[in-house]
Amino acid sequence: MPDTMRSLVIGSGTEIAPRLVTNDMLARIMDTSDSWIRERTGVETRYFVEPGTSTTDLGEAAARRALAAARVAPEEVDLVVFATMTPDHYFPGCGGLLQHRLGLRTVPCFDLRQQCSGFLYGLDVADTHIRAGRARTVLLVGAEVHSGFMPWGAGSWARLHGEVDAPLANGEWEVNTQTRDRTVLFGDAAAAVVVGASEDADRGVIGIELGADGAEARRLCVPGVGFRHRPYVDAGQVARAEYVPVMDGRHVFKLATSKMIEVSRSVLDRHGCTLDDVSLVLMHQANLRINEYVQKALGIPDGKVRHNVQRYGNTTAATIPLLWDECAREGRLRRGDLVLMVAFGAGMTWGAALVRA
Ligand code: ACO
Repeated sequence: MPDTMRSLVIGSGTEIAPRLVTNDMLARIMDTSDSWIRERTGVETRYFVEPGTSTTDLGEAAARRALAAARVAPEEVDLVVFATMTPDHYFPGCGGLLQHRLGLRTVPCFDLRQQCSGFLYGLDVADTHIRAGRARTVLLVGAEVHSGFMPWGAGSWARLHGEVDAPLANGEWEVNTQTRDRTVLFGDAAAAVVVGASEDADRGVIGIELGADGAEARRLCVPGVGFRHRPYVDAGQVARAEYVPVMDGRHVFKLATSKMIEVSRSVLDRHGCTLDDVSLVLMHQANLRINEYVQKALGIPDGKVRHNVQRYGNTTAATIPLLWDECAREGRLRRGDLVLMVAFGAGMTWGAALVRA
């Protein structure tokens, strides 16, 4: 392969969970309101799966659409990268499950656990393999079923969906309210891209910058259900809802804005570009207020930004490919457009990529 080989996104696909949940519906099961959620986060609706649907299920549907859009047959895929923080099992990872479901060859399959930065870390793995001549066609998936960490009992779910009108059982309202700063943020979705090797030096991934700082990890993490406990999950952890992420929201907000600004500037500078050269900015969608802050600080005009947190909430690893797929389907991604992608997530992790469509 020539050493100018570039990684080009040649197809994308999305799968949104089927059950729409509005902010008013959440107010049936906890002390919250549409106005609080909208004003603080921008989120208006999110979608949840039916019980029994897994991250691999959503990822498979998105991957099939991406392969069809790219006109790539399953036997052509020679690497799978699956980014998720909500895997079907503690092990094995979702990548191998997906490989089998799609009938791929027995190619290498990575699972990445970089949360909201997972897609950009995955894009870097795909790009590195393609540039090194180790893969020609990479299937890169970001998928999440966050509904599994909602600490809501069966009565809460039934009331949420309007299936019963009965008041919640003793204490359920209080438990739901204690975790409201996090549970209102997330939704279930998957999106995938096919990344292909291209000899066209004018297109594809131009550069990616990634970072991490474990010193801040405890500010946003799942405190229970892990192998520092023996056994790694027990009834006490479940009773204390330690499978629900904890978050120092204000601190994370500050870190997210500063790192997203810094890494965006850095990747642009490194490749001799400015925001004037960029046609589209795809930011991770954790909170619309974070993104508005970043947009203002960088001076990005409204017409160059695309948001979807209002409809889907935070979809973690699925967010950036979902934005890409929406823009592709709406004709907002023209051949040759320069796209800046940027994300910040738990870990703490962050990244930015410059990609020419
Ligand atoms: N409904 C109503 N009231 C609420 C809710 C809710 N859903 N959640 C919190 N409140 C209340 C609190 O109890 C508090 O009340 P008090 O003043 O009486 O004590 C008040 O609202 C303010 O709470 P804060 O948590 O301080 O609210 P804040 O303005 O910081 O917003 C939020 C919280 C939305 C979480 C924000 O901090 C944020 O977006 N942080 C960053 C999130 C992020 O970027 N995450 C990274 C990616 S996620 C990942 O990687 C997995």
